[in-house]
Amino acid sequence: MLVENSRPIILTGDRTTGSLHLGHYAGSLKNRVALQHTHRQFVLLADAQALTDNIADPEKVRRNVLEVALDYLAVGIDPDETTICVQSALPALAELTQLYLNFVSVSRLERNPTIKDEIQLRGFGRDIPAGFLCYPVAQAADITAFKATVVPVGQDQAPMIEQTNEIVRRINRQIGRALLPEATALIPATGRLPGVDGKAKMSKSQGNALPLSAAPDEIRAFVNRMYTDPNHLRASDPGTVEGNVVFTYLDAFDPDRAAVDELKERYRRGGLGDMTVKRRLDDLLQELLRPIRERRAAFADDPGYVLGVLRSGTAKARAKTQSTFDELRDGLGLFSFDKIA
Ligand code: TRP
Repeated sequence: MLVENSRPIILTGDRTTGSLHLGHYAGSLKNRVALQHTHRQFVLLADAQALTDNIADPEKVRRNVLEVALDYLAVGIDPDETTICVQSALPALAELTQLYLNFVSVSRLERNPTIKDEIQLRGFGRDIPAGFLCYPVAQAADITAFKATVVPVGQDQAPMIEQTNEIVRRINRQIGRALLPEATALIPATGRLPGVDGKAKMSKSQGNALPLSAAPDEIRAFVNRMYTDPNHLRASDPGTVEGNVVFTYLDAFDPDRAAVDELKERYRRGGLGDMTVKRRLDDLLQELLRPIRERRAAFADDPGYVLGVLRSGTAKARAKTQSTFDELRDGLGLFSFDKIA
């Protein structure tokens, strides 16, 4: 095991707008469970960021802080290895955001490709909440407050890391030394898991996601609904594997590569029915999700424990983020009562 302080620092987070699903598991949670042993990992329950496009429903954002925390614990994020903290309870993040906003132009914010897509998707038109437009700056505050150098995120978040590093370089130039480290995005090679309908992205709002807490019959129904090859009408017909959601999932979850390759081969040739492949995937997902569902239920029965985890994680994160803010304040030469001679 590495010495605590020589471990690279990871910061990731999730908006608390709903409980997490299988796409989150494949895209980042699984990675976090593995990385927590070799890195110093902080995970942020990003409730403040969630408000930037959910201000009409703060109750949803609040409720899901606990739901997402349960998902974390259920998949095996271990509070002894990973610091789990609540964003809105870390005032230094808001202070850093305010400071960083001076290092970014509005036109730069408007050029962020992910923000552009999200503005379209949410139909904001010209009425973009300023907090939403600026959330990449808040995210730069999140990342740098922990001095994270590794940020495991999906491909869509790459522009946020770029934006972060631009701010970091500007600040370091102004201070005259590398006070803040630049960060690297760790993007999963497998790409995003498609939804049950074959749409590019699994997302709760699209109604094509499988929650991590899904019951056995929900898992089965999800697999049975999966988009396959519409031209593969009879088992004896040759079928297409590309874009076939069942095979995409087998690629993501089946540890037996050779068996999957053989199934693909038989499917292409003809003679393999959709139901046979779906049954294999159902078995795999049932096995993957059963322990997660059971652990989640056990943690949900002990909210005192979960709150304790969040409370101590947030206290630890508060010290870390405040110390970064203090360093920056002094580095930039801002007013401080402590520094009056
Ligand atoms: N924007 C991320 C998402 O869409 C959540 C997030 C907030 C985050 N702060 C972060 C991710 C810092 C990585 C680092 O889920």
